[in-house]
Order: sequence, then C-alpha cells, then structure tokens
Amino acid sequence: MRKPIIAGNWKMNNTPAQAKELLEGLKPLIAGNEATEAAVCVPAILIGTVKEAMEGSQIHLGAENMHWEEKGAFTGEISPVMLNAFDVEYVIIGHSERRQYFAETDETVNKKVLSALAHGLKPIMCVGETLEQREAGVTDELVCGQVEKGLAGVECIDNVVIAYEPVWAIGTGKTATADEANRVCGIIRDKVGQMLGEEAAAKIRIQYGGSMNPKNVAELMAQPNIDGGLIGGAALKAEDFAALVNNQR
Ligand code: PGA
Repeated sequence: MRKPIIAGNWKMNNTPAQAKELLEGLKPLIAGNEATEAAVCVPAILIGTVKEAMEGSQIHLGAENMHWEEKGAFTGEISPVMLNAFDVEYVIIGHSERRQYFAETDETVNKKVLSALAHGLKPIMCVGETLEQREAGVTDELVCGQVEKGLAGVECIDNVVIAYEPVWAIGTGKTATADEANRVCGIIRDKVGQMLGEEAAAKIRIQYGGSMNPKNVAELMAQPNIDGGLIGGAALKAEDFAALVNNQR
C-alpha cells in the first residue's frame, strides 16, 4: 500500500518570519493525520528556520534543489552533504522551472537523483510536458524519456518519488483532468516497471502537480495511479495546504 504524499514546493517565497507563521498555522491543522505524509520543500536559506519551526510535528523537511557534488567551486550551489547536516529528507530534482530557467537537462537530473540517493536523500523527480509538446502529441514519449534518463542507473526505487507536472498546468489555474493525469501517471508507472520490475512499479509513489487545490484534490487523489501532489501556490496558505493534506483523512 502506497502512503500518499502531499509536498509543498515553496519556490522563491517566504522570509524566515513568514515561514514560521505559515508553519505555526499549519501544524495544528494537520496534527494527528497519519494517513498522508506531509512535506514542505523550502528555499535553502530557510531550511534551518523551518527545521526548528516544525519540531514536534509530523511534517517532513525537503529542499528544492541540490548540486550532485559534495563540495567545491560551484558558487551559489548547495550540496547533499549540506542537506544531510540539516536532516533534510526530500529534495525536489528537475522541476520544470529549473529545466526552463536554469538549463537543467535529463542528464543533470540523473546526476542529482543518483547523488541524492547515495547520500540518503529522497528525490522527488519532476517530469512533464510543455503545452507545445502536448499539442504535438508527444506527451507520452517525452515523459517516458524523462523517466528513463532521469532514473538511469537507479537500482532501488524505494526512496524515489516521481512528480508528474504538466508544465502548462503549473501556476496557471489549469489542471489536467483527473483522467488524463491518472493516465500519464499510469504510463510513468509502467515505465518504472519496464526498467526495474513489477514490484518497483507497484511501490513507486507518483504525485500529480499543477494547480492542485482544495477544490480539485479529491478527484485527483481518487485516481488509482496518483499517490499525492506537489503543490506550489496552495502550499503558501496554511488552510489550503492543510485541506490537501487532510483530504484522505
Ligand atoms: P502550482 O505549482 O501548484 O502553483 O501549480 C506546482 C509546482 O510547480 O510544483
């Protein structure tokens, strides 16, 4: 049985004071929820603050990105060793905004996934098509290619989460229909099965991401291949994020 995971992706939002306020609001709203794993993936500079502010809660801590090397001359980057030092558990890898604005490729995504796993971190690997790719009819092929290249060399899927995020649905208020989101998540599951076997396919948790909100969460989470959500906008309000986490309660 796959435990659902709702992960917030704060992106480039919140000061330390705002982060504390958000978590203080969130903690009581989701307290005691054992049914769903709740995680917040936050800007690197907030990791220390968030770790402290969420103490005593069941919230899991995540980062939004990392370099694959442990240290060195990579100005502005953070390493898996640094994340380990703050007991970070999850790390988003290859979000479409990283691919689009920071030139990340399937190859760098793969290096980061392998490095995260080697350092005991759980990668949330993002895949998804742009509107042009969808309209050109290459969604399935594209997404399968991202999964295949991103997971190359991965032997054990236990600590991996995949987020299917159609780029056209991110921050736009447009959501993939539940059927279509489920269909693509099913294709991703099959691909994992081809690469790593049936057991891996049955185990891998696949999130949907892209304008998931308190209104559409129930329908999306009712789909058999959707095991959670990666949440941008709705993760910035305690009530909204709590409504997503508590959906399965
Ligand atoms: P959104 O972002 O929920 O604001 O669409 C999702 C994401 O980018 O992970």
